[in-house]
Amino acid sequence: MTRKFSRNLIDFISKRILSGRQPQKQRSHFEALFKKNWGVTDLKEITDPTSVMGLNFALTTVERGERIKDILLQYTEIKGKRCLDVGCAYGGFLVAFKRAGAAEAIGIDVDPNLLEYCRALLKDHRLRKIYHQKDILKAEDICALGTFDIITCNDVIEHVRSPYTAMKHMSSLLRGNGLLFMEIPNRFCAAFIRADGHYNLFGITLLPNWMADTYLKRSFPRMSHSIHYRRLKFYTNTLKGLGLHRLNIDTVIGDREERLREIRNIFEECKRRAAVFEGDIPLPIKEKIRERVFRIADLFERNYGVYLKCRERDAEKAEALAEKLILTFGEGFWRIIARKRMVP
Ligand SMILES: C[S@@+](CC[C@H](N)C(=O)[O-])C[C@H]1O[C@@H](n2cnc3c(N)ncnc32)[C@H](O)[C@@H]1O
Repeated sequence: MTRKFSRNLIDFISKRILSGRQPQKQRSHFEALFKKNWGVTDLKEITDPTSVMGLNFALTTVERGERIKDILLQYTEIKGKRCLDVGCAYGGFLVAFKRAGAAEAIGIDVDPNLLEYCRALLKDHRLRKIYHQKDILKAEDICALGTFDIITCNDVIEHVRSPYTAMKHMSSLLRGNGLLFMEIPNRFCAAFIRADGHYNLFGITLLPNWMADTYLKRSFPRMSHSIHYRRLKFYTNTLKGLGLHRLNIDTVIGDREERLREIRNIFEECKRRAAVFEGDIPLPIKEKIRERVFRIADLFERNYGVYLKCRERDAEKAEALAEKLILTFGEGFWRIIARKRMVP
């Protein structure tokens, strides 16, 4: 499973660090922290794909923050607003929101190692310490934070033990009319079934947690599985119950026909792979992956058939169906934006 961390990728990452937007100083901060946290003396020694993904995730932190800030600007002003990033890790969202004129951009995260990256990044951007080591699940941790106009929670909710408590606490931290943004990975996305976004492993998103943990440990012995996937409905219903009105789930981008064909092709590829899957994992796990890949792919295929028939009779209905199919099987991440109702 492991492969050597490629020279090109290191060059790519180094160039990114050295590129205009990321000052030279940041290179040494990041390199020193990566080396310390991964226990290596040279970035080239980093060999497993999850670390490669981790590096890339860290190095794109400001870019990703900027992208989400741009999405939110379609719904609200950021200038002068009080913003909170839950699970802020490297801190890119804080930089992006401060640049957009936020009165305050505060980050919280449970992981002190990741907050070290945040400290380095903020220093490079000449921002004062605006993060705290806090757990969104603990009422006593968050009670002194005050209230916010905007809360972001990007790729975090799937890592917390109780997403309901996290959403309840975020809702309590939101001011009336305030916005909550959550980005959440979709376990049924065909591309993630082929290779998931956290570990790059075939079929892992379809497994129950204990099986996923065994699969992961066989591939990367030092890692443990800490992702809890839920259906989109779970999140949207929970938010509704908490008094948050959903404004949007990222609209389906691109040519619908093309996207559906692409999803279909990926499922075909997954089925071929599942049929001969030879990973170094216990047989029951392989069988579970095989069974689930075929089940999900067939579910898509049946609905795709309904869509094709519908397309001839009722274009509007077909379009809605296509959108639902893409959201369910094609989108890697759901981006939910919800507004808290004003309390009268
Ligand atoms: C995949 S990272 C996402 C980091 C960041 N939001 C981003 O998009 O770059 C998940 C983050 O959630 C944090 N986290 C997990 N559980 C948490 C909790 N209960 N309270 C606060 N942060 C938490 C982790 O420490 C980690 O930094």
